[in-house]
Amino acid sequence: MKHQDKNINNNEESDTADLAAEYVRDLSQEEFRSNLMKKLRPVEPRQFHRQHEKLIDMISELYMLIRTMQRRRPTAEERQALFKMLGEFKQYAATHFREEERYMQQTNFPGVTDHQAAHARFVSKVLEVEERVRNESVSYVVELFFMVIDWLFSHINHMDRLYSDIHIKRWGPSKK
Ligand SMILES: [Fe+2]
Ligand SMILES: [Fe+2]
Repeated sequence: MKHQDKNINNNEESDTADLAAEYVRDLSQEEFRSNLMKKLRPVEPRQFHRQHEKLIDMISELYMLIRTMQRRRPTAEERQALFKMLGEFKQYAATHFREEERYMQQTNFPGVTDHQAAHARFVSKVLEVEERVRNESVSYVVELFFMVIDWLFSHINHMDRLYSDIHIKRWGPSKK
């Protein structure tokens, strides 16, 4: 399992290494979102691509809030909002993962066990961020937050592509 993670990370560096550089630039939410959208590789079935886009929308909202919170001492309301957003993000990601896993099981996708394990690791990383948001300063959490985003991007652009490639081979690309 570890070995596979390592390979995935190696493949993915080129896609995600400039994310941190983008983050330090003072981008608007829309600029940040459109930069991420450009990096996103589409997958089939199409509904999973749309869910990936929704995850990016949520990440972009989180980005904006975190940037605001870093400029000065965050208010209690902002901390509350951050916690709420992280909770919603985690919830949406978990639902997305469940749907992907069900799809892979129904279609006898060969790598479903590894894929499930990768999803579970992601959820535990987000839980770690949540825990740190609760107990530590925001700036301390930022690095971990971006690591989580990098991980998600890597996962979508490489591991999710595996089921997508099989789907396209079996049924062809979607019409729209
Ligand atoms: Fe996915
Ligand atoms: Fe996935």
